[in-house]
Amino acid sequence: MRPIERFLTGITTTGTPHLGNYVGAIRPAVQASKREGTENFYFLADYHALIKCDEPARIQRSTLEIAACWLAAGLDAQQVFFYRQSDIPEIPELTWLLTCVTGKGVLNRAHAYKAQVDKNLAAGVDADAEVTAGLFMYPVLMAADILLFQAHKIPVGRDQIQHIEMARDMAQSYNHLYGEHLVLPEAAVDESVALLPGLDGRKMSKSYDNVIALFGPREQVRKQIFSIVTDSRAPGEPKQVEGSALFQIYQAFASAQETQQLRQAYADGIAWSDAKQLLFERIDREVAPMRERYEQLVANPHALEEILQAGAAKARARATPFLRELRHAVGLRNLAASAATGKKAQARAALPSFKQYREADGRFYFKFVDAQGRLLLQSAGFASPKEAGQFIAQLKASQALPDAAMATPPDGVEAGQVTTALKHLADSGN
Ligand code: TRP
Repeated sequence: MRPIERFLTGITTTGTPHLGNYVGAIRPAVQASKREGTENFYFLADYHALIKCDEPARIQRSTLEIAACWLAAGLDAQQVFFYRQSDIPEIPELTWLLTCVTGKGVLNRAHAYKAQVDKNLAAGVDADAEVTAGLFMYPVLMAADILLFQAHKIPVGRDQIQHIEMARDMAQSYNHLYGEHLVLPEAAVDESVALLPGLDGRKMSKSYDNVIALFGPREQVRKQIFSIVTDSRAPGEPKQVEGSALFQIYQAFASAQETQQLRQAYADGIAWSDAKQLLFERIDREVAPMRERYEQLVANPHALEEILQAGAAKARARATPFLRELRHAVGLRNLAASAATGKKAQARAALPSFKQYREADGRFYFKFVDAQGRLLLQSAGFASPKEAGQFIAQLKASQALPDAAMATPPDGVEAGQVTTALKHLADSGN
């Protein structure tokens, strides 16, 4: 039997979900949550929202709307872990443990923080103007979200890959210091998921003000759809599907057969207003039943709050004992507790280990070090963390010095030392 694979995703609670969020994140996640052999964690990242938003009413409203959206879209709170970040006190606790194994220099390189610094420098103001420590710490909080639940795969957009790599590095640093406790997560970017264009043809995004509401009043949705930008071809003139935002949005909802029919209609010169009407009806067919459920949920915050409380209890049943283990490992312990487990953890920490990291050249490297931290092997750069990981797996399996030039011992280290350390690691079951 395959071991259970855990997927985890957070949704920042600023704003109201639009059609692009539905097609790009909500719909695929709801489908994915039904896979056999997986556990799925979805949470409302309201601590992250505080980094961007200082309007309390908006945070509360957005949390309500996003929770309602996910449930209306078919997420089964019984089947998955569905909770609000701020209901899990273990997350900020783990954030601190991770803060203490994270280099400040690593956080200096985080995209969101760096973008603000670059903007400030370009504007000729102080580098740290408008930069809160919250923005700087964003990747650590996110790593705590992920590592607390021992998630393997993190479905995210491309813009989040760096954060997942940082979470991985933090897990590695923690494990190196305190023994193997944390699972190393991986980003899962689904290339097949549609990136929905907005009303003006650019990516649908709140910051471009080009969105179609997901559960807005029908009339509003209709108006938005009718304002999709098209060209000036008259009814009867053949139209092109290439570059047509209307066509692409339709495709994200339609079957292959329906898409083919619209393609034909374009060639036959369908009027833009008729095409828009078709799109409106097609979207409404999928969304109308969910809209009803959404409106019920939003109108009944008590019931939603109960669902979230139950979700928090379910999540904490995992988080509380695990955080206890992590605290113990770092030495935050009951003074009367026996030192035996401490010794065991130390023995585990005193093993040779692989450390993976990324260099400024964008490639992925590893070092193999002995129990005292002495370098035994230095790798060359790999194109992806996966390739580096596969190479390490081969090394562990063969317990022999690699003959490829991809990893070599430094001067003064004998081949025998490397193979002994590999064997020691294998014997320990790591
Ligand atoms: N940073 C993510 C975003 O802006 C949201 C998020 C917070 C998240 N914690 C997470 C995503 C943990 C995945 C895993 O989209």
